[in-house]
Amino acid sequence: MPHSAVPPFERTPRHVAIIMDGNGRWAAARGLPRVEGHRRGVEALRRTIRAASEIGIKFITIFSFSAENWSRPAKEVGELMGLLRRFIRNDLAELHRSGVRMRVIGERVQLDPEIGRLLVEAEELTKSNDGLTLVVAFNYGARQEITRAAQRIAEKVAKGSLTAAEITMETVSECLDAPDIPDPDLIIRTSGEQRLSNFLLWQSAYSELVFVPTYWPDFDRAALETAIREYQQRERRFGGLAAKTGS
Ligand code: FPP
Repeated sequence: MPHSAVPPFERTPRHVAIIMDGNGRWAAARGLPRVEGHRRGVEALRRTIRAASEIGIKFITIFSFSAENWSRPAKEVGELMGLLRRFIRNDLAELHRSGVRMRVIGERVQLDPEIGRLLVEAEELTKSNDGLTLVVAFNYGARQEITRAAQRIAEKVAKGSLTAAEITMETVSECLDAPDIPDPDLIIRTSGEQRLSNFLLWQSAYSELVFVPTYWPDFDRAALETAIREYQQRERRFGGLAAKTGS
């Protein structure tokens, strides 16, 4: 198949989730401070959002600050918070103009109130857009999200609106942070690490995982297309039989 600028993807993943890893190593390899890797990571994020829109991906979830990232030195935590603040302040209008709807998953209560307000503002401003949905996982951990869902379910049972026997997998899905977002078809992790690190553990049950060696600041449209091609070569069976052999 000849390569073209916009590949004729026959099975474009509807939802791509990305673990943007390797900012620190990118910076270290160049003798730069870690924050420079994160700054260049924001540029890679802008490129990726644009490319995802053009390719026809409907949902993209990015792991931008994990619940475990608080254990980093206070200086780096502050820099990451500053980058999120600046990303929303500088990029929100442009994202809105290009039809992007922004959603946020993760625990909000521990966040600086100003960041909390910016996240609400971004979701409110873009809520009627029908282009790409950008899900920002911020102060996010999947075990924490599943625990929150368990608490919401327990409250319903305590109130008497649900019995224990009525709890199904759908009940759990409906109590997660963004129940209307479909599960990711493809999860990409950059930097060569091969693990999920507490990212979308419930939603990734049948996701295809693609690990790429590129450090996140170097990620671009070509790297995204390569990961999508790898996804397209996988056969998703969801526990059933292959389409051709299942007789
Ligand atoms: C992992 O690299 C990346 C992060 C912990 C943060 C991801 C953040 C960005 C891409 C920029 C911020 C974006 C927004 C929207 C706030 P690492 O630091 O773990 O890299 P290393 O494993 O090489 O040290």
